[in-house]
Amino acid sequence: MDVVSSYVRLTKRSGANYFGLCPFHSEKTPSFSVSPDRQSYHCFGCGKGGGVIGFIMEIENLSFPEAVEFLAKRANMKLPEEVNDRESKKRARMLALNRDAARWFYEQLHTPQAQLARAYMEKRRIGAVTAKNFGLGYAPNEWRMLMDAMKEKGYTEQELFEAGLIRRREKSTYDTFRNRLMFPVIDVRGNVIGFSGRILDDDEPKYMNSPDTLVFDKGRNLFALNLAKKSKSGYIILSEGNIDVVSLHQAGFDSAVASLGTSLTPEQARLISRYTGEVIIAYDGDGAGIKASQRAIGILEKLDLKVRVLRMSGAKDPDELIRTRGPEAFRALLEASENQVDYRLRTIAAKYVLDSPEQKYEYLKEAYGVVARLPDQAQRDLYASRLAEQVGVKEDAVRGDVEKTRVQLIRRARSNENRAAARPERPAAAQGRKLYFDDPRAAAAEQGLIRLLFLDAGYARGQPLPEPGEFSSPELRHIYEALRERIERHAPINLSLLSETLSREEIDLLVQLDQEPVNLSNGEQAMADYISIIHDRYTERQSAAEQQPASDGLLAIRDKYRLTKAYK
Ligand code: GTP
Ligand code: MN
Repeated sequence: MDVVSSYVRLTKRSGANYFGLCPFHSEKTPSFSVSPDRQSYHCFGCGKGGGVIGFIMEIENLSFPEAVEFLAKRANMKLPEEVNDRESKKRARMLALNRDAARWFYEQLHTPQAQLARAYMEKRRIGAVTAKNFGLGYAPNEWRMLMDAMKEKGYTEQELFEAGLIRRREKSTYDTFRNRLMFPVIDVRGNVIGFSGRILDDDEPKYMNSPDTLVFDKGRNLFALNLAKKSKSGYIILSEGNIDVVSLHQAGFDSAVASLGTSLTPEQARLISRYTGEVIIAYDGDGAGIKASQRAIGILEKLDLKVRVLRMSGAKDPDELIRTRGPEAFRALLEASENQVDYRLRTIAAKYVLDSPEQKYEYLKEAYGVVARLPDQAQRDLYASRLAEQVGVKEDAVRGDVEKTRVQLIRRARSNENRAAARPERPAAAQGRKLYFDDPRAAAAEQGLIRLLFLDAGYARGQPLPEPGEFSSPELRHIYEALRERIERHAPINLSLLSETLSREEIDLLVQLDQEPVNLSNGEQAMADYISIIHDRYTERQSAAEQQPASDGLLAIRDKYRLTKAYK
């Protein structure tokens, strides 16, 4: 509780567990739970779980021994010797070696033998200040120069090998990086964890990265995040190449980073999300860049990051753009970058020629998938009307389709969730249990309201919900109370959690209600209608009761009886 609380606000308590918003995936309602009894955490949304060390490893991006060390420091405890031994000593040693190697590469850049490297930097317009800020260096075109220099400093061949600085083939060993411009990869704590080297001529491969080592995990680090994290720009620019990053920083865009020769990973995205709420993707303008952008959008969105996509034009990548057209050209593209929805819709539209009904239909079908996922009704409406205009169909029709698609999406997600949640202890819902309703018209509205809220609690926003006391049916009232209580405290709504409050019969009734079709072409209107029917029927029953005091007492007694039954 203590450790998790410093990262997650545990706002709700439910039974023995505490709930908050999951730090590992994006969500609006808390499904991340901590159990003080079990000393563990579990997210019902993304499935992540474990104990305190695992939590720190995950959230701080640390290895096991680092996490233990971190926790020991936090608790003011001395680290037991067994943990602080071999592996962490080895890591410290490897980091020292990397730092020494980086220094050595840097020094080589300023020797007379580095003519070619300096000429290359000049050609790429990398200035001395930039080179210094990034700690750029030069790996000479020799087989054992680095190895000899590091051995002289006391490092063993085995250590060099494990750090990925030398390679072994049969009996011979040789420097990994030769004839390359060297980019040290520095983590957010300032450690040199690896290297990336660009060949100075046209040899292959163009770029070479350190292999993954004890201290280097390419999928969990980003080039230049150590610099970008200090930027005041409010966003991070994500580009493809090291040179792009260097050029961008040099041109004043000090929040540029690049993933290390791979496409963006979820771990990298999470690392980014620690430092910013907004990412601008500035990948190359070619097909591969576009594909990579789409993948990156998906990953970044999951973390609730605002994403914009820069449309590269006039050059193939940021470096070339800045070199040929200047920083202002990049600034202009940056300012014109689209939000992820616009970007996606435009990319989809590009696949179709919108001149035939078939093409229009296919386009709309695909576009609905994007628009229907927007959480905000106003936003969905806005995009629906844009789509309608673009394709030349009626706005109402598009809106209706979007909402229908949304219902299908939510249903599918919910039914997967429920299937997973309900399966172990609940083999099947009671089939067609018949309920007797005193006021069928009211009960129909009450059921409708429950159905909508269970389907999407978002419908509760914007209109005051009725008091449970206004419900005519005690069974429905109890279900509604449970839903409303969860909605009010932003707790997740699913069957397994509701079954803490609701009886088995009530859960069955809810499942049954949920299976009935809902016409959601205008959910908000339906919601308003249900609420007003419930109000009206309640008022009517009240005034009828006032005229017949005798039956009021009877009704009250029967309600009370039913309620106590329902609570069991
Ligand atoms: P320059 O030609 O130096 O401008 O490089 P670039 O950044 O424009 O290159 P490109 O778009 O081809 O590559 C982008 C990134 O992909 C590089 O920064 C590398 O991280 C990675 N990459 C490119 N080529 C190779 C390669 O041959 N091997 C590996 N491992 N990574 C590469
Ligand atoms: Mn380039």
